[in-house]
Amino acid sequence: MNSMESMFALASEADDSFSNASTWERGGQLWASNEQRTLTCCRVVDETHDVKTFEFRVGDGLPVRFEPGQFMTVSAIVQGQAVERCYTISSPPTRPWLVSITVKRVPDGVMSNWLHENMKPGTLLRAYGPSGAFTPTAAPAAKSLYLSAGSGVTPLMSMTRASIDLGLNRDVVFVHSARTPADIIFREELRRLVGLSPRLRTYFVCEGAGDEGWSGPTGRLSLQLLSQWVPDYAEREVFTCGPAGYMNAVRELLREGGHDPARYHQESFDIGAGIAAEPAAPESTAAHDTFTVKLARSSKAFAMSASETVLSAARKAGVAIPSSCSQGICGTCKTKVLEGTVDMKHNGGIREREVQKGFRLLCCSRPTSDLVLEL
Ligand code: FES
Repeated sequence: MNSMESMFALASEADDSFSNASTWERGGQLWASNEQRTLTCCRVVDETHDVKTFEFRVGDGLPVRFEPGQFMTVSAIVQGQAVERCYTISSPPTRPWLVSITVKRVPDGVMSNWLHENMKPGTLLRAYGPSGAFTPTAAPAAKSLYLSAGSGVTPLMSMTRASIDLGLNRDVVFVHSARTPADIIFREELRRLVGLSPRLRTYFVCEGAGDEGWSGPTGRLSLQLLSQWVPDYAEREVFTCGPAGYMNAVRELLREGGHDPARYHQESFDIGAGIAAEPAAPESTAAHDTFTVKLARSSKAFAMSASETVLSAARKAGVAIPSSCSQGICGTCKTKVLEGTVDMKHNGGIREREVQKGFRLLCCSRPTSDLVLEL
């Protein structure tokens, strides 16, 4: 493994924080997932008729470190309401002076419409730092298959750009699904990147041909199409991102094709779609129990039911705790529990070492005793 490859391969082994020091230390400053910074919009790029890329510099303009595939959480006041949404960083960490998000405008999308209407060079935006485990560093592989649909292309684009910037010449097949040819995000750039990296191949499939003369396949990605394009797909580490329905279909298709589920990775939430419902309370929870939560730094305290998440109860009590996904994915709400115990049902947003150090994700933790939090 050469030193460039090690930049990707070593990060997840080296530390218990995805944004922690070892790999990108020389490439930028740490921007923690629970730390808000001000971004300044540098550029807005029209990608398709309803997708724009917003490029930002962070804070004082110093480089930041993150891993390809990670996301950040942007915050804005929209129509008087505080709104937070996770967006994958579409730019690569090899260009650490910029962070970009690529956002599809959806009809009822509060944040996506706001961003499309308001972002222009010089506009400021608040955001929490990079987070997420959907990175190739978590599963280094000789051969990869990237599967995306719609704006799910963004984390895979960051991975592809980073790999090519570093000259890694990785064996990657990138299969992207879109509604029509006009909806293919990064189409021209992907074609150009294929010309730069002999072992990168791209394929597109469109649900409909649209107005453009489209000679490629139409319909949904099928096992037949995948086998034709990527006969060795079963040997590849698969990274998938797109709407939930697409990812479910892809997962089933790969299972049917005999792909090892242990080599399958997917981004766990609809990119840009925002925040899903809170995880349900475990059946064992005694809903009638009431506990007291004390905040060590601020000396505040509130009472809460055992059936609620600590994050939800804190909000009701007027205590602001950084959060984003509300599903135990992003790590934004990670907080040290100094005293007491909780029942935490997370979805990969915290590592075992962090748990051993006393950290918990408050969005998916319910108290089983009185608590003291390091807040
Ligand atoms: S808000 Fe994302 S893990 Fe808690």
